[in-house]
Amino acid sequence: MGQRILVTGATGTVGREVVAHLLEAGTRVRALARGPADLPPAAEIVRGDLTVPGSVRAAAEGADGLFLLWPFASAEGLEQVLAEVAGHVGRVVYLSSAAVRDNERQAEQLIERSGMAWTFLRPHAFAANALRWAEQIRGGDAVREPYGRAAVSPVHERDIAAVAARALTRDGHAGAVHELTGPHSLTQSEQARVIGEVIGRPVRWEEAAPQEARRQMLDRGWPPEIVDDVLRAQAGATTGPARVTATVEQVTGVAARTFRSWVAEHAHAFRARP
Ligand SMILES: NC(=O)c1ccc[n+]([C@@H]2O[C@H](COP(=O)([O-])OP(=O)(O)OC[C@H]3O[C@@H](n4cnc5c(N)ncnc54)[C@H](OP(=O)(O)O)[C@@H]3O)[C@@H](O)[C@H]2O)c1
Repeated sequence: MGQRILVTGATGTVGREVVAHLLEAGTRVRALARGPADLPPAAEIVRGDLTVPGSVRAAAEGADGLFLLWPFASAEGLEQVLAEVAGHVGRVVYLSSAAVRDNERQAEQLIERSGMAWTFLRPHAFAANALRWAEQIRGGDAVREPYGRAAVSPVHERDIAAVAARALTRDGHAGAVHELTGPHSLTQSEQARVIGEVIGRPVRWEEAAPQEARRQMLDRGWPPEIVDDVLRAQAGATTGPARVTATVEQVTGVAARTFRSWVAEHAHAFRARP
């Protein structure tokens, strides 16, 4: 029998693609989900919640590997979850981030001590972050935000998932830290322009004051420390091109997907609805 991998965050942007990649490679998938999950029928869905002690233990029974997404702002509770799975699961691939915030480093350290063979994925900004502009673009011809000159190297969620699937099912990734980016550095205003080119009408960048963006994020209920973190990161990214790594291609053997290809696949989200 082949391996069985437990996937957390399976209904999310990256986890959904991890499920797809593993199934495509003939690996058995067990997906942890809090509620009904629209996943391929070949995936076994197990009800569980990462915040409910004990609920991950049953899901981990009989699994060989774990794709771990920890969707919380703190590493609190992770140690218990790791203790529940470590008796069953031999390897874990954790979705960290290139920013390696304090909570993410704490999570990495707990995983390093868990006894499981680990691999950390540290992606830069997801291409999917552009979806936050979708409503503005559907309703007009501009993206109004601060720091149009801030550069990122947007990475396609499917490339993150492809690396995760390799690390979960093949040898040679234990103890590896994979820093993942897309193939190009693009400023935010260049990303808006690419979206316009793909959907077939110009999309302008309209520079907003950081204070305006700060107020809007706070109104949406974002915690002030996260808001300041985001704005600080964007301000810091205006000084030059973003870092680009070759890791996706090195691990998967296939070049990382471009932002333009991501937009083409998601063009419906940016086009006005009839
Ligand atoms: N966006 C970026 O640019 C970026 C860059 C680097 C790293 N990251 C990291 O990527 C991660 C987010 O990945 P994503 O965008 O794929 O996630 P996402 O689309 O926001 O999905 C979150 C997933 O977590 C699940 N979840 C939430 N609370 C849960 C709970 N209590 N128990 C079990 N599952 C729970 C959700 O399941 P339900 O269906 O039950 O809600 C969903 O499947 C974060 O850790 C972030 O720090 C993001």
